[in-house]
Amino acid sequence: MRDQAEQLRRKLASASYAKEAKTIAVTSGKGGAGKSNLALNFSLELLKREKRVLLFDLDVGMGNIDILLGLSADKTIVDMFAEDLPIHEIIEKGPRGLAYIAAGSGLNDLFTMDADKQDYFFMQYDQLVHLYDYIIFDMGAGVTPDSLTLITACDECLVVTTPEPTSITDAYGIIKHIVTSRPGLPVSVVMNRVSTVKRGKQALERFYRVVKQFLAVDVYKLGVLPEDRTVSNAVIRQIPYILLDEKAAVSKAVKQLADHYLTEPAESPKQPPASFVQKLKQLMMEGK
Ligand SMILES: Nc1ncnc2c1ncn2[C@@H]1O[C@H](COP(=O)(O)OP(=O)(O)OP(=O)(O)O)[C@@H](O)[C@H]1O
Ligand SMILES: [Mg+2]
Repeated sequence: MRDQAEQLRRKLASASYAKEAKTIAVTSGKGGAGKSNLALNFSLELLKREKRVLLFDLDVGMGNIDILLGLSADKTIVDMFAEDLPIHEIIEKGPRGLAYIAAGSGLNDLFTMDADKQDYFFMQYDQLVHLYDYIIFDMGAGVTPDSLTLITACDECLVVTTPEPTSITDAYGIIKHIVTSRPGLPVSVVMNRVSTVKRGKQALERFYRVVKQFLAVDVYKLGVLPEDRTVSNAVIRQIPYILLDEKAAVSKAVKQLADHYLTEPAESPKQPPASFVQKLKQLMMEGK
């Protein structure tokens, strides 16, 4: 009896080990919508729920996860290519054991690199997919043809917007871009910096309806985050806000977001699953 239980436990452990990480691209139409803070604090919340998370800073403009953490990364993704380092050597450790990869400057060369470098990236990346439950990419604002390739290779996309009309319009634009390029990709939306939860939910609902009506896409309403001074205090102190003040309104809201995410995950794509690397390779070939 005991042997059987032990065997079952081993099987389950190896099955979960073999599972591939879910890849999530965090993006926004307009800059400064709150992507990096959300990606970081959401990752920390997932870690608290014993999920294995890798936060990958791929903001080609101004990667700054390490700055938000008050840590200076020894190595970045750019060094990986420059020095042919194995990917595990550029993974840094943050609070709660958060694994993260810093962006480094010159990251925009990532997609224009030669075939050998691309192969090297794929080979390295492949080593990570069984080690994590979630790989979260902080993608920066807007899309370039290259970042679109990466976003659409992910399993899901999380679009952050604020209720401001300019942010909303740009979020709509980016979703249009993404779903035109990869119909069926699950898209979640977070409405950030809302004045009250009620107004925020209303804004999210309006946005949902517009996207549904004009793009025929059912985005997943992941939730709202309040405008809270704790965020800028946390940025200044270089401590993630849920660690600085877990009782702050924004910290409570991000906890709810993580609960919501884990209990009602975005609908999985209709097409048969392909790995992130398979999809990325295919998309890069299409672009040639
Ligand atoms: N919920 C919030 N309440 C108050 N201020 C916020 C909130 N979210 C973000 N901010 C403010 O917006 C700033 C930008 O946030 P963040 O760096 O996360 O945005 P971003 O979308 O990653 O920006 P970028 O496009 O430059 O990468 C923060 O430094 C903070 O001052
Ligand atoms: Mg950012």
